This record gives sequence, structure tokens and C-alpha cells, in this order.
Amino acid sequence: MDNNQPIGVFDSGIGGTSIWREIHNLLPNEKTIYLADSKNAPYGEKSKEEIIRLSMKNTDLLLDMNCKLIVVACNTATTNAIRELRDKYDVPFIGIEPAIKPAAINSKTQIIGILATKGTLNSELFHKTTEMFQHIKIIEQIGYRLVELIENGQIESAEMTQLLHSYLKPMIEANIDFLVLGCSHYPYLIPQIRKIIPDHIQIIDSGLAVARQTQNLLKEIGFNNDNNSKPIFYTNTNPKVLQTILGNNCVVQEKDF
Ligand code: DGL
Repeated sequence: MDNNQPIGVFDSGIGGTSIWREIHNLLPNEKTIYLADSKNAPYGEKSKEEIIRLSMKNTDLLLDMNCKLIVVACNTATTNAIRELRDKYDVPFIGIEPAIKPAAINSKTQIIGILATKGTLNSELFHKTTEMFQHIKIIEQIGYRLVELIENGQIESAEMTQLLHSYLKPMIEANIDFLVLGCSHYPYLIPQIRKIIPDHIQIIDSGLAVARQTQNLLKEIGFNNDNNSKPIFYTNTNPKVLQTILGNNCVVQEKDF
């Protein structure tokens, strides 16, 4: 089945490009439009109502651009707003949630760690997921300031290293064997995190799972059949950090939204 409309992807900022990359690698023929709502980052410290309002604003814009499906490439927006989005719009949505399930199922120590935003860890959806794994000890840590530092291009800063040490040390001491990255910004921190945690601790995020889910949904609503599928990226702040993270092959445009 053919469907040459683009796939819309949004996040509170540049983090969702970690999800976009997985989608693009798996489905290179698909046309994608990415919205980085960096002006409003971080979503993780906002109220549920505000996260819903921003998610709808991003969805409206992607629908104006004729998207055939929307990927909410943000754990905070998914866990706080996906139900409201699905209630309001007819277009299919794919959300991203912390990969608690594979970590819990595969953990040998039965102790796992999760690093995510306050908005995600406090959400009803997240609590429902953790309730399914009551035999597993889940060490939750809010990643205060991490998104701001990533948005400012300070991934390798001394402050980042110090924060990561303080967030991860209690998890290492508790003997976790899986670390779940529950925010789409955090995969960009993997090189820093790897320097801190022992080799036997596996890091997991949800990027590939979301790409596979997107592929499955396209079997129903149609794949793109033309080869002219250059991705488009819009940001509502200075494009410099987004451009750096994507590399020069991708065109980033500034837009007021
Ligand atoms: N990248 C987002 C997430 O996956 C949101 C981070 C934020 O804006 O606080 O949760």
C-alpha cells in the first residue's frame, strides 16, 4: 500500500532526534518532518495541562503539513498527553515510554534503574507500568538539569559529569544490572554514562522499538514509494545545537511555532 504523506515527529527539543534517527535508519524512504519545540523545553518540569497544550500545538502544525502519522518522540509528552491526543485527533499516534518491561524481564539482580524527567516519573501511565513488575526493585531518578544542558550543547561539560555521577552512584551501589533511559534526550549521554557505570550494566532506551512500531503501522496505512524523501527539521530557537547533533547533511530551519 502506498502513502506518500510524511511522518511527523515532535519532541520538546533536540532529544527526539535519537528516535527520528532509528526511524530514518529503518525506513529511509519515508519522508519525515521533525519539530523541536526547544523554546518550551524542558517539558518535564511543566504541568500535565501545559504538556497536553504543547503536544496539541505541535500536532496541529504537523497535521497542517499533511502528516499521515505522528510520533511523539518524547516520554514526558507520551506519558502525560497521549490519551488526550488520541481522543482529539483521528490520525494515528505512536508514543515512547521508558523500556521498563525488557529491563524487568531480563534483569538477573531484579534491580533496575531508571533515569527520566519528573513529568514522566510522576505520570499515571508510568505508575501503571511499574505496578506490573512488583517483584522488581526500580530505582527512580529524576534527571534534573540534564535536558537543559543537552539543549545548550553542554553534553561534555563538567556540570554534566558531576550530575551524572550523583544520579548514577546510588544505582550502582544498589546493584542494578539494567539502566533504562526514560527520556529521548538521554541517548546522547551514553558515552558519558558508560564512563561512569560498570560494563555489566546494560543501558536500554526505546528508540528501535518505536521505529519497529512505526514500520508495523505503515503496513496498515501505507509506505512512501517515492525516493525524494529528504527529512525536514524545524526548531523554534537557534538551530546551532540541533544542526551539530544532526550533522551537515540535514537541513534545519528556524520557524516560529
Ligand atoms: N525528551 C523528552 C522526554 O523524552 C522531554 C524532556 C523535557 O523536555 O523535559 O521526556
